[in-house]
Amino acid sequence: MIRTHIAGLRAQAGSTVTIAGWVQALRLQRAMQFVVVRDHTGTVQVTHRRDGGPLESLLDSLTAESAVRITGVVKDNPVVSLGGLELIPESVVIENLAETPLPIDDRTGPEGRLDWRFLDVRRRPAARLVFEVQTTVEQAMREFAYASGCTELHTPKLMGTASESGAEVFTVGYFGRQAYLAQSPQFYKQMAIAGGVDRVFEVGPVFRAEPSFTSRHATEFTGVDVELAWISSVEDVMAFEERMLAHVLAAVAAAHGAEIEELFKVSVRVPAVPFPRLTMAEALSISGASAGQDDLDPAGERAVSARVLAETGHEFAFVTEFPASARPFYHLRPAGQPHLTASFDLLWKGLEITTGAQREHRYDVLLAQLAEKGLAPEPMRSYLDCFRYGCPPHGGFGLGLGRLLMVLLGLDSIRDATFLFRGPNRLVP
Ligand code: 4AD
Ligand code: MG
Repeated sequence: MIRTHIAGLRAQAGSTVTIAGWVQALRLQRAMQFVVVRDHTGTVQVTHRRDGGPLESLLDSLTAESAVRITGVVKDNPVVSLGGLELIPESVVIENLAETPLPIDDRTGPEGRLDWRFLDVRRRPAARLVFEVQTTVEQAMREFAYASGCTELHTPKLMGTASESGAEVFTVGYFGRQAYLAQSPQFYKQMAIAGGVDRVFEVGPVFRAEPSFTSRHATEFTGVDVELAWISSVEDVMAFEERMLAHVLAAVAAAHGAEIEELFKVSVRVPAVPFPRLTMAEALSISGASAGQDDLDPAGERAVSARVLAETGHEFAFVTEFPASARPFYHLRPAGQPHLTASFDLLWKGLEITTGAQREHRYDVLLAQLAEKGLAPEPMRSYLDCFRYGCPPHGGFGLGLGRLLMVLLGLDSIRDATFLFRGPNRLVP
């Protein structure tokens, strides 16, 4: 039996087809039975005149969200408000009858929707559009990365020592000892650079044991990581990222622009390159930071983006030259400026979506910076060894996919940008 997608019914007027989907609405009247069926491409009205036959009792037994297959004749009918089209059923198969009442409805709050995420995603086209957009985003990122000479890697998420720092790391039992969940592919992508991979690209899970309850933090999220060898400066890394994002947004605008506008009331703007750049010192003064502050808080990030938008019309802004105090030991410090780092954050509409940097590739300098941060070299031995046998200058960035989607679609929370959100209070479903 060939299944016809509901979006394709218009072209089938007059013929007999089979559709498969869910009961979105039922209107069982005295003379007529109307069933609105939804699949992932659209909705259609099924119209049946009561005749006392088996079809009538089958339709009477339906419940909302039941999974059905219906075979019938597609009929043009300008009177039908749903696309001027209806299906006159010849046979109905109830594949799975939904229980009543449904556990969620249109008034269910965000946590209740997460409890019943499969019903939430099924019932709301906007929720499903998020993942279609995500697919286009990832595809465009890969296209760009491959065309730019990247090799895609998959680094381990189980590690014997905590990456980057001991904080924010989940521990898991590992055959009688402790292992840690990777809070970034950082060290491994640098190891690949030391391994002679010229440009690294990875999309993978990232784990953060942060007890954060904000709209932009998850304990597990998807990270997009890039690392580039033989760079001249951190500028090469920013140039890569801005061109990648321009390519991604052009692809999203072309594939989903109209639907995003309709369902999210957001217009996708393809950014011009280069993106505006400003130093952290400038960003802090725009945000009205207090003396001694070395990083932007969320309000500061919004203030910086608002200023850049007002002055340049640009939604993106690179904040550069972060103080060494606000950055990890492995960020390179510009020559003669040991208090600064050759690093950046990328803000989009007031939210950090990326952190990047040129890395320190000189073993002795790296050890000195490690000591300065009060960290012991021994647990990081396998990382530090990468810098003892010929490591090229390199740099890269990590981008949060959920954050990107959240800003792109104007979502209130990263919860809606993730199929199944993970937070301090949420490990199910
Ligand atoms: O800024 P972060 O912590 O930087 C790193 O992990 C570096 N190793 C990256 C690098 O190559 N220098 O994380 C990178 C990005 C952030 O900018 C943000 O978009 C996202 O990951 N992110 C989170 N997304 C959701 N929930 C969280 N708890 C996140 N923490 C970071
Ligand atoms: Mg960051």
